[in-house]
Amino acid sequence: MAHESDTVRYGESGLPIEPVYGPRALDGWDPERRLGEPGGYPFTRGVYPSMYTGRPWTMRQYAGFGTARESNARYRQLIAHGTTGLSVAFDLPTQMGHDSDTPIASGEVGKVGVAIDSVEDMRVLFGGIPLDKVSTSMTINAPAALLLLLYQLVAEEEGVPADRLNGTVQNDVLKEYIARGTYIFPPEPSLRLTADIFRYCRAEIPRWNTISISGYHMAEAGASPAQEIAFTLANGIAYVRTAVAAGMDVDDFAPRLSFFFVSRTTLLEEVAKFRAARRIWARVMREEFGARDPKSLMLRFHTQTAGVQLTAQQPEVNLARVTVQGLAAVLGGTQSLHTNSFDEAIALPTDKAARLALRTQQVLAYETDVTATVDPFAGSYAVESMTDDVEEAALALMRRVEDMGGAVAAIERGFQKEEIERNAYRLAQETDAGERIVVGVNRFQLDEEEPYEPLRVDPEIEARQIERLDRLRARRATRTVTTALDTLRKAAEGTDNVLPPMREALRARATVGEVCEALRGVWGTYVPTDAF
Ligand code: 3HC
Repeated sequence: MAHESDTVRYGESGLPIEPVYGPRALDGWDPERRLGEPGGYPFTRGVYPSMYTGRPWTMRQYAGFGTARESNARYRQLIAHGTTGLSVAFDLPTQMGHDSDTPIASGEVGKVGVAIDSVEDMRVLFGGIPLDKVSTSMTINAPAALLLLLYQLVAEEEGVPADRLNGTVQNDVLKEYIARGTYIFPPEPSLRLTADIFRYCRAEIPRWNTISISGYHMAEAGASPAQEIAFTLANGIAYVRTAVAAGMDVDDFAPRLSFFFVSRTTLLEEVAKFRAARRIWARVMREEFGARDPKSLMLRFHTQTAGVQLTAQQPEVNLARVTVQGLAAVLGGTQSLHTNSFDEAIALPTDKAARLALRTQQVLAYETDVTATVDPFAGSYAVESMTDDVEEAALALMRRVEDMGGAVAAIERGFQKEEIERNAYRLAQETDAGERIVVGVNRFQLDEEEPYEPLRVDPEIEARQIERLDRLRARRATRTVTTALDTLRKAAEGTDNVLPPMREALRARATVGEVCEALRGVWGTYVPTDAF
């Protein structure tokens, strides 16, 4: 029964309902009220009642390099080693919507991820992998719609209906303006495209997670735990507001929102961070958006261990770091986890390093007892008080973003970027002063580093990929492509959902670069406010 006390309002569930952005005036800490049950509002203790006692988190190793052929081999290797979810890394030209044979792509083709120019490449990427049985995450933002549609087209060719597909596109352009930089279009058309993806997936690919609202890259840029969740959740609020303003009911798309955070070696604070994030999001979705479906209130997230904490010095020491970071994510209730390879501060991971990273997760899942209890830290004086502290700090930052008019307005003022840069500078100063110890770097160094043989990538990758593009353009029906791209442009100029005409252009073998070029011609490209 809802009731009022002199300081806090309590809701039907008996939990306190504070004004999400208002001060927290709690009269004493009551575990019943503050925590709730696992799988129950406000999900402090985890999104599922049974958590890992029923099923371990998804072991989802981020991978991709070279052409589709090399990456397909790595995915099949990871599946053979026991990975339970795929996670595709794309090269920069693909992420920025350029074909491999454009001048701007030179030197980057297949470098930080796989080069995907067309449906032909996508078919090779997933060759021999049953798309109705795996869940595939794709780390793609500005051109997320294109890669999602290419995945759907390849599945269709294999006879897998779209409503059987399971996976995620990152599709989080707001954090690209703040921290990573792989944006293409200005905020307004980018948010329109995000809402188009929400609507398209609701109708055509209902089991697909339409966005992975990410704090990882802001954390890697120097954000504190409170900044990481505050700016991520503020971006999430902007996406929800956009979809609601576009006429969607919140419960029609919110269950398929997902999140992505880092896990640092500061294990206790990270567990507190994840618990605070779930509690804030549950309250925002219920209090601000009136969401009724419990799945709309659940903050489901993927975690990647902190790349910036990997050292090139004594790289094997990273195995210990990644183990602690992976444990933090698990104790914090992650749904999906990527553990970094110990050699990633040096180069792309070797096969052995990639296998060791996965084995680390398997030890956590199958040799420890952390999966036997849901939210083991529940009731811990240290973690519960840290959860409250991180929550309080994050809410204060969210209030500041809200006071500026929301995430997009704050981005345009450079607020998040400045706050993160300030924290990054503090971290660097503490490390340089030796106050923040980095083993092997500012303490316990070796007189002489031992040599390490990194993975060598085939220098012919770029030439081979350009040949593939030439063959594709020579074989396709050029008129059909031209007509399909014109239809796409007309949709982008109007208000219709751009995904159906985009899909038909891709089916006709339009390339990623050609589709993005058509949209650039209508929407323009984003110029950051601090560009000189
Ligand atoms: N009880 C009941 N049901 C359970 C359960 C439990 N204990 N555990 C799992 N399930 C169910 C779920 O409900 C779900 O069913 P549904 O699909 O019908 O809803 C199914 O089992 C799968 O479980 P999850 O959805 O929890 O796990 P997934 O792994 O499928 O999804 C996710 C996890 C976070 C929701 C999803 O969005 C995801 O996989 N994200 C991954 C994002 C990613 O990999 N990003 C990589 C980024 S790398 C990057 O950015 C670049 C670099 O620079 C870092």
